[in-house]
Amino acid sequence: MFLAKYKLKFLIVFVASFLGTFCYAQQENQKNKRGLKDFYLRYFPIGVAVSPKNLVSDEAPLIKQNFNSLTAENAMKMTSLQPKEGVFNWAAADSIVDFAVKNKLKVRGHTLCWHDQTPDWLFIGPNGDRVSKELLLQRLKTYIQTVMKRYKGKVYAWDVVNEAVDDNPNHYLRRSKWYEIAGEDYIAKAFEYAHEADPTAQLFYNDYNGERPDKMANIFRLLKSLKDKGIVVHGIGLQSHWSIFEPNQTDLEAAIEKYSSIGLKIHITELDISIYPWEPSVRAKRPDEMETLTAELEQKQSDQYDMIFGVFRKYKNVIGNVTFWNVSDRYTWLDYFPVAGRKNYPLLFDAHLQPKKVYWRIVNFKKDK
Ligand code: GLA
Repeated sequence: MFLAKYKLKFLIVFVASFLGTFCYAQQENQKNKRGLKDFYLRYFPIGVAVSPKNLVSDEAPLIKQNFNSLTAENAMKMTSLQPKEGVFNWAAADSIVDFAVKNKLKVRGHTLCWHDQTPDWLFIGPNGDRVSKELLLQRLKTYIQTVMKRYKGKVYAWDVVNEAVDDNPNHYLRRSKWYEIAGEDYIAKAFEYAHEADPTAQLFYNDYNGERPDKMANIFRLLKSLKDKGIVVHGIGLQSHWSIFEPNQTDLEAAIEKYSSIGLKIHITELDISIYPWEPSVRAKRPDEMETLTAELEQKQSDQYDMIFGVFRKYKNVIGNVTFWNVSDRYTWLDYFPVAGRKNYPLLFDAHLQPKKVYWRIVNFKKDK
């Protein structure tokens, strides 16, 4: 009798501990399957900029595991979509949108009106001279409407105008061809055409260094003036091509508060943290330039990511999307810009697609109640 009782107890303990181990393993398994997007489910979608190639390579599983929003790195720019008047190349952009629809990911459209990666024909009139303002705006309207209608219901937010504010704070707006031909009007017009084409889409003005106090003041001036004119603009895209040197928390929070004070949503649209200081123009690599991600640089990068994600979480009520610019350190546009051939390591996954230490720091945060 005593022995039977003892055996039963033993059996219970054995089964309980087996179940415990089993559940723990299951949980661990689940945890391993979780990606960035799952840790941030209650905060904001986490996106990534991709090329169609990323989506058919060994990066595809990583993308599906970690991200729930996509941006086309280049496939939705005007040089890609409409290289010649009336000739639209949809294949690359369609493949990204199809992947997103199939895998239930959001899509941010990028970008409808920009001074760069825009074909020359757009600015040339029928006689070979510079195009008139009327024709330029007509072309912009046709372009925006054609593209947005094609992706209506699939692209939930668009960067309507990209980088219209000058880096020189005394200049206000960039002296681009858009500006030279159409003056300041082209910006409001682009938003009007976009809202007409898809009234359900969220419309963004997108720019870099929008958290630097000088440039922020001019971006704010532009957005405030659009809103005062009754133009529909839902938010500001902070590109966030940052580095281990900037931004600091004070500037970043001040910018978020300033933009959101006039009801703008904030999307972090092109996030990466370079290990080099920001440089505006292309230059050759110096022979002495070090290109290793040393333990010290990695630590600084990790501290910077930790700080900015802390800020993003703090402002989750106004931040609607956080998108990384490229998938992993295997390839980043920063390997070529501003210094061609200088390796950079700005992302959360290493060149072997493994999460870097900083990844774990970003996902292991104390959750809000
Ligand atoms: C800007 C553009 C992006 C991309 C990056 C560099 O930030 O908005 O589309 O071209 O430059 O890759």
